[in-house]
Amino acid sequence: MFRIVRKEPLHDTVTLMEIEAPRIAKKALPGQFIILRIDEKGERIPLTVAGCDKLAGTVAIIFQKVGATTQRLDKLNAGEYLLDFVGPLGKPSEFDGYAGKKVCVIGGGLGIAIAYPQAKALHAIGADVDIIVGFRSTDLFILVDELQNACNNLYVMTDDGSNGHKGFVTTALRRQLDAGVKYSLVVAIGPLVMMRAVCDLTKEADINTIISMNPIMIDGTGMCGCCRLTVGGQTKFACVDGPDFDGRQVDFEEAIVRSRMYKKEEAEILHRCNLTGEVR
Ligand SMILES: Cc1cc2nc3c(=O)[nH]c(=O)nc-3n(C[C@H](O)[C@H](O)[C@H](O)COP(=O)(O)OP(=O)(O)OC[C@H]3O[C@@H](n4cnc5c(N)ncnc54)[C@H](O)[C@@H]3O)c2cc1C
Ligand code: FES
Repeated sequence: MFRIVRKEPLHDTVTLMEIEAPRIAKKALPGQFIILRIDEKGERIPLTVAGCDKLAGTVAIIFQKVGATTQRLDKLNAGEYLLDFVGPLGKPSEFDGYAGKKVCVIGGGLGIAIAYPQAKALHAIGADVDIIVGFRSTDLFILVDELQNACNNLYVMTDDGSNGHKGFVTTALRRQLDAGVKYSLVVAIGPLVMMRAVCDLTKEADINTIISMNPIMIDGTGMCGCCRLTVGGQTKFACVDGPDFDGRQVDFEEAIVRSRMYKKEEAEILHRCNLTGEVR
């Protein structure tokens, strides 16, 4: 059993939790994730390691309440326990060779929570980091102070312009590229359509691009095939070959179709009565 040691709502739909998991805290690196299960009837869900405190033996996760499991998770409090908390899974991000180089880390929506450890890692090895993040509006801001400390320049965009910078993350990236900023690497994490739009720009500008794929996962060990995707014409499993991939090689059309495979069942579970099994 894994104890929740801290719970902090970042806003209405996003929560940070720290879980006591010393073995994972000791080993996890940026880009890796865990799979948790609340109890024996729970589904397994993957969440990125948002940070580790090796001394305290805790692992931070940041999750958005999007469906049945994340809503159940959000009902738990510090002092309560999770049945399973497995990791670190996936390959760590590879940033060798980017010390002293100009790089751009882009996060959209909750992708910001996943992009934050990557930006911190790049900043720590001495890369010159620009961060571009996009929110729908200012009331959905998360981690802005933390991001500020993990970069040289932070550009915050809002879809509705409520912070005075209206546009998508690609609006800001396009502006940087048009202004002649030369990036050696772009890291983009967020919804598939956002990552595809970033990759369209970086293909045009010929910039190495790493994206973090988040297909549906079950076992997280390469056995079930659920997280299959096509990269550079080859079949890959996001849980063991990723989740980071060269974004310019990813077949986004296939990934988008596969991400929608269980929409109906996910909606039903959210509205199914635990006592009768009836879908409401
Ligand atoms: C490597 C990886 C890292 C992730 N990191 C984070 C993170 O740090 N924070 C965060 O909020 N979310 C993260 N996600 C997404 C998170 O796993 C889903 O939001 C969660 O599983 C939703 O479960 P649910 O029952 O609440 O919602 P549901 O209603 O079941 O699903 C909502 C959506 O979540 C996705 N999803 C559902 N089940 C799974 C599953 N077993 N595996 C993957 N995706 C699923 C689907 O796109 C689905 O449409 C990550 C996903 C992956 C693959
Ligand atoms: S989650 Fe089963 S193969 Fe990746």
